Amino acid sequence: MIKPHGSETLNPLFVYDQEKHDALLHEAESLPALMLSSAAAANAVMMGAGYFNPLTGYMNAADAISVAERMHTTDGLFWPTPVLNMTNNIEAVKGHKRIALRDPNVEEHPILAVMEVEDTEELTDAEINLIMEKVYRTTDAEHPGVAAFQSAGKYVISGPIQVLNCSYFQQDFPDTFRTAVEIRNEIKERGWKKVAAFQTRNPMHRAHEELCKMAMKAVEADGVIVHMLLGKLKPGDIPAPVRDASIRKMVELYFPPNTVMITGYGFDMLYAGPREAVLHAIFRQNMGATHLIVGRDHAGVGDYYGAFDAQTIFDEEVPEGALEIEIFRADHTAYSKKLNKVVMMRDAPDHAKEDFVLLSGTKVREMLGQGIAPPPEFSRPEVAQILMDYYQSKSK
Ligand code: ADX
Repeated sequence: MIKPHGSETLNPLFVYDQEKHDALLHEAESLPALMLSSAAAANAVMMGAGYFNPLTGYMNAADAISVAERMHTTDGLFWPTPVLNMTNNIEAVKGHKRIALRDPNVEEHPILAVMEVEDTEELTDAEINLIMEKVYRTTDAEHPGVAAFQSAGKYVISGPIQVLNCSYFQQDFPDTFRTAVEIRNEIKERGWKKVAAFQTRNPMHRAHEELCKMAMKAVEADGVIVHMLLGKLKPGDIPAPVRDASIRKMVELYFPPNTVMITGYGFDMLYAGPREAVLHAIFRQNMGATHLIVGRDHAGVGDYYGAFDAQTIFDEEVPEGALEIEIFRADHTAYSKKLNKVVMMRDAPDHAKEDFVLLSGTKVREMLGQGIAPPPEFSRPEVAQILMDYYQSKSK
């Protein structure tokens, strides 16, 4: 099986041993506590679940800057995005070596993790700007990832963590949320050797469905793992339960049995385009996938990134051998009216734009909101129905 990133075996930061877990929780209740930002809580869940192997905790300022500038930590680990615990509010934990980290996303804010504080540093405005420039390629506060980063706080608390639970993800998505450990185990149980992972934060339309099928065929995969983001998104994006239901319907009706694992992970979307694609590759390798599908405007938002920047970063900025997972690069994919099937545009060089069924995200949302199903060439009718029901219930 493919090795995890940066180590021989996966090292999830969850405390699995029940006795140790209980003792840690007991200790944590009397520790000074910090309320995490949602992004920092998501980082803890990703480290707990093994997705962020081999990290052992939150990065310090030097590592965050090094990662932003060079995609390597100061110790030389290949890593594309800072994994930080940022806050404005250090009074309660100042001077303490061990602290409890509270979950901002769950009622009564239970303790999510215990942290061994190694350092508390204040980032300068110049450092914050540098990180944003490198990671998001913009400092525009209109960018949702930049906005979240800017509001997280200027202090960076770094050090190892031990994680106590999976935040709200296990309760809210019991059938879909999986740790990297669980996915590795399931791949093994199924006996899959080549596994393509499909990242998504949207419902899946015909193009997405075919991307998975094309990738499976091209890399001769035994199966595909639809791995959906279950954490926070920008306003206007479709909530996870609706996406989950529509993806399940599509897989049930349009994929051969036992070829798809429907799964999800607990992370807030960064919208960092190319850098996030590299992070995606790392955590898919950690869960045991051999290939990651990267298509058009992967993890992008607005016009901040070129349509294929998230592919070229792997050629231009990821050093040879830094990752074991391979990237399946997909061209813009759409239904061809000439060929009566979904194709990648590079495979239909004689086509003009009008030969494809192309609908913008805005147009699709508009149609669904008005109870109009997008054409079946764009969206499976059963998927469209679930999305229309959602938009209609929202407008009531
Ligand atoms: S993402 O933010 O998670 O990347 P989305 O769920 O829309 O957004 O996309 C999931 C994956 O499908 C990404 O790899 C993206 O590049 C790819 N993708 C989405 N739509 C298309 C399309 N029409 N053609 C090619 N690739 C696409």
